[in-house]
Amino acid sequence: QNESKDVATRLTEVCVVLETNIPYFDWVGFYFRNGNKEELKLKAFAGEPTDHEIIPFGRGICGQVAVSNKNFVVPDVKAQNNYIACSIHVKAEIVIPLFVNGENIGQIDIDSHTEDPFSHEDELFLEWINENVSKIL
Ligand code: SME
Repeated sequence: QNESKDVATRLTEVCVVLETNIPYFDWVGFYFRNGNKEELKLKAFAGEPTDHEIIPFGRGICGQVAVSNKNFVVPDVKAQNNYIACSIHVKAEIVIPLFVNGENIGQIDIDSHTEDPFSHEDELFLEWINENVSKIL
C-alpha cells in the first residue's frame, strides 16, 4: 500500500512538471489497467479533476488505445465519434500507451485547450517519458 502511494506521488510529480512547463498541455494523467478487469483506472493527474476515473476498454480515446496498443493523436476532438468529453475547453488530445515487458499496461493522456497542438516530437517525447516511467512502477 505504501509502495503504491509512492508510485502515485511520483507519477503526479511527472504530471505536474509536464502540465506546468508545456503551455499546450492543459491536463496530464496516467491511466493503468485496473487489475485484470477490462478497464482503465486513473492513477495520477495534473489539471482539473475528471469524472472519468474508470474507462472501459474500447471507450473513448483512452479505451481505444488500451485495445490498439498504438499512439492516438487527436488534433480535433469534435471530429471523433468515440470520445469521452472531460471538459468543454478541450480541443485536442494525445494518448501514448505505456509498455512493461512488451505489454500495454497503461497510458499517458494529455488534453489541450489549443487546436491541433501535437507534433511528432511530442509523440517521441511522451514515448520517452513512458519508457522512463515504466522503470519506476
Ligand atoms: N477524453 C478521454 C477521456 C479521459 S479525459 O480526457 C481526462 C477519452 O476520450 O478517452
